Amino acid sequence: MKVPVPRALSKPQKPAEQGNGAGPAVKEAPADLVGWLDERTGGSSFLTGMLFRKVPKGTNWLYTLGSATLFAFTVQAVTGVFLAMFYTPSPTQAYSSITHLTNDVFLGEFVRGMHKWGASVMIILIFLHMARTFILGAYKYPRELNWVIGVTLLILTMIMGFTGYLLPFDQRSFWATTVGNNINGTGPFIGPYLADFLYGGPEFGATTLSRFYSIHMLLVPGLIIALIGAHLFLVVKLGTTAPPWLEPKRSRAIIKEEEL
Ligand code: HEM
Repeated sequence: MKVPVPRALSKPQKPAEQGNGAGPAVKEAPADLVGWLDERTGGSSFLTGMLFRKVPKGTNWLYTLGSATLFAFTVQAVTGVFLAMFYTPSPTQAYSSITHLTNDVFLGEFVRGMHKWGASVMIILIFLHMARTFILGAYKYPRELNWVIGVTLLILTMIMGFTGYLLPFDQRSFWATTVGNNINGTGPFIGPYLADFLYGGPEFGATTLSRFYSIHMLLVPGLIIALIGAHLFLVVKLGTTAPPWLEPKRSRAIIKEEEL
């Protein structure tokens, strides 16, 4: 398939001529923002390479689960920004800031609900996407690194769920965090250090909430965004795998071609 080359790239723009006062000024062409950006970043060749890349025959809806996970993450990021505008990460005000958001703020309950249920949706989608790549053998050479990045993304997504659960600061979140962190503490070697780090001390204290908040909205989302970037870079670079039941046919065709 012939990839269309954007006009801005195929024909570099000359700087517009200026009038010098002696004669009528040459009319300046309307500014083409996309072309301007493109000349300076080369972004369109990256975008056309990504959007018009070849996808093997036989791909189906199961191949959209990665994109669906990406969409779920985007929804979490956008709704999370709105929640952060009203949330106060202090042990005395966290619960009341959440009840205020839920009961008094326009669409507050709706956005909170999207964020809460979206978290479960993202976990389900990530597992389904992982199952698809595993069952169809997409983790094999040369995509092992993308599998490892994927496993790290799965762990980080679960950390998001764990740290987010404390933020409403009600009885349920307090006890769930206490149980979860006690389980962390029983882990070999790093377990006790990890529990101390998460609590911000030897036990649940005043700093625990702010620690969970900063991990939940700064540290882990930053890591997830960076890793999604690396994950998608490898997807574009290595291409999508064909379903395994099409492989033998393809290799027979290649063998035939070689025999000719
Ligand atoms: C935040 C989480 C994740 C996002 C946003 C994401 C996104 C994507 C997208 C958009 C694709 C290309 C489309 C597709 O094949 O579905 C993809 C491919 C892939 N993903 Fe993920 N993914 C995530 C987590 C994971 C996990 C947990 C694993 C496995 C442990 C994984 C392993 C792979 C592999 C091996 C491919 C290449 C598939 C192929 O070439 O056919 N990903 N991912």
